[in-house]
Amino acid sequence: MSNTFDVVVIGGGPGGYIAAIRAAQLGFSTACIDEWKNDKGGPALGGTCTNVGCIPSKALLQSSEHFEHAGKHFADHGIKMTGMTLDVATMLARKDTVVKQNNDGIQFLFKKNKVTFFHGRGSFVKAGEGGYELKAGEETVTARHVIVATGSSARALPGAPFDEENILSNDGALRIPGVPKRLGLIGSGVIGLEMGSVWRRLGAEVTVLEALPTFLGAVDEQIAREAKKAFDKQGLKVELGVKVGEVKKAKGGVSVAWANAKGEAQLLEVDKLIVSIGRVPNTTGLNPEAVGLKLDERGAVVVDDECRTNLPNVWAVGDVVRGPMLAHKAEEEGVAVAERIAGQHGHVNFNTIPWVIYTSPEIAWVGQTEQQLKAAGVAYKAGTFPFMANGRARALGDTTGMVKFLADAKTDEILGVHIVGPMASELISEAVVAMEFKASAEDIARICHAHPSLSEATKEAALAVDKRTLNF
Ligand code: FAD
Ligand code: NAI
Repeated sequence: MSNTFDVVVIGGGPGGYIAAIRAAQLGFSTACIDEWKNDKGGPALGGTCTNVGCIPSKALLQSSEHFEHAGKHFADHGIKMTGMTLDVATMLARKDTVVKQNNDGIQFLFKKNKVTFFHGRGSFVKAGEGGYELKAGEETVTARHVIVATGSSARALPGAPFDEENILSNDGALRIPGVPKRLGLIGSGVIGLEMGSVWRRLGAEVTVLEALPTFLGAVDEQIAREAKKAFDKQGLKVELGVKVGEVKKAKGGVSVAWANAKGEAQLLEVDKLIVSIGRVPNTTGLNPEAVGLKLDERGAVVVDDECRTNLPNVWAVGDVVRGPMLAHKAEEEGVAVAERIAGQHGHVNFNTIPWVIYTSPEIAWVGQTEQQLKAAGVAYKAGTFPFMANGRARALGDTTGMVKFLADAKTDEILGVHIVGPMASELISEAVVAMEFKASAEDIARICHAHPSLSEATKEAALAVDKRTLNF
């Protein structure tokens, strides 16, 4: 086997493995190097997303939601549960099976698309005539084009490194062997809310400490307020505007000294502490100095709008570069780069990347928030429709939340759609398609939506922009 490739991708997460498949589809000889190990030391393709991110978190969110429904809501449907017990070991084993199915699926896709896989660390050795020389585990390969897709890792609090026993990153948070009585989380961002929800549903007393004074600052304010109300009702305790001080391992747990928004000293004592305060790009293992690959002050690879680095034929995608740390953003960049290498016009529209927080209620949005439009001085019209007035939501027994449309005051073009409520993760797709096609709110309002469906709330919110809802 020749170890010279047209394209070598370093990293086999959603950015890297998708870039490799697209490059191979375009006819390039392609290899992917990934170092993730499963618990037996074997390969585990899919990166953070598959192993300790999107997939296992959604598996546990689903299991814990079933548990909460069975315990608290089945009775409303006339289904009486007695003697219900929780088997955390089985729940975690099911999650591990889901992860493995995804790992194996990617290995199969590599075989199907003839992508050569190297299990081990990828790093730059030197730039030469025929391309870049790289280490791929124990082997050496040469690449005409390199795509860096090495992703990110959890950021630790200064002075409190992760031990994955008591002070947990996202990794440890997904494999706590039993429900902790008291669980603390630092950071009420996406991981804080999703993992906090999982363990609260399973019975933990959860406290989240958040530095910012506002809840979910990046989310449309009206939607964030609605979500906060629902989380408060569920008993997910979120303290805003705090200052976290010393974090110490105490007997059987962790103690966190913190000051509340008024500056008063507090102490949080918990059995487990999840630290979810953002993520840092993975570039240390790459040996970027060997070729002069430019990094910024955070250690992220510096790229232009099209994912080009400072080096010819070296590209970077996903969490290791600027922009939102989302699996689908990484994938879109991976596809676009492979197409650019092929001389095509790969394109990523950053204005239509959807966000989803998979709590209950789910929170999903695309485009601009009302605050952003106000700050930019854009004249807009808003329309909202509550799930309370949606027949399908009533039948489901989940009427929390609303759909909100923001449209240009003059042209009616949709500028943002924000949803808090049941299945927001699925409903948002319609808004993404509409915005990609530059649809107006009226376009959505005039499209026939199935009855009874949650998507009728989307149509009604679009009608609300013109103040003519039919069911509210
Ligand atoms: P990664 O998935 O991090 O993959 C990088 C890969 O490169 C890894 O396998 C790593 O081992 C490997 N690697 C690193 N350095 C080297 C090297 N030198 N040599 C060889 N291999 C190397 N996003 C969503 O869109 N939806 C979600 O629901 C979601 N949920 C999440 C839940 C959690 C708990 C977390 C932590 C993240 C979640 N994310 C979610 C974010 C998502 O996981 C990331 O945005 C996504 O994985 C980024 O993909 P990537 O390919 O850039 O990097
Ligand atoms: P995050 O950026 O979403 O949230 C971090 C939170 O921690 C912020 O609210 C920040 O103000 C707070 N914070 C930072 N330092 C702090 C401190 N010292 N004390 C108290 N609070 C502090 O980061 P998170 O939750 O770690 O997730 C990382 C990324 O992973 C997300 O930004 C997202 O891109 C991705 N992700 C996506 C998911 C999804 O799409 N559903 C799910 C989970 C993660």
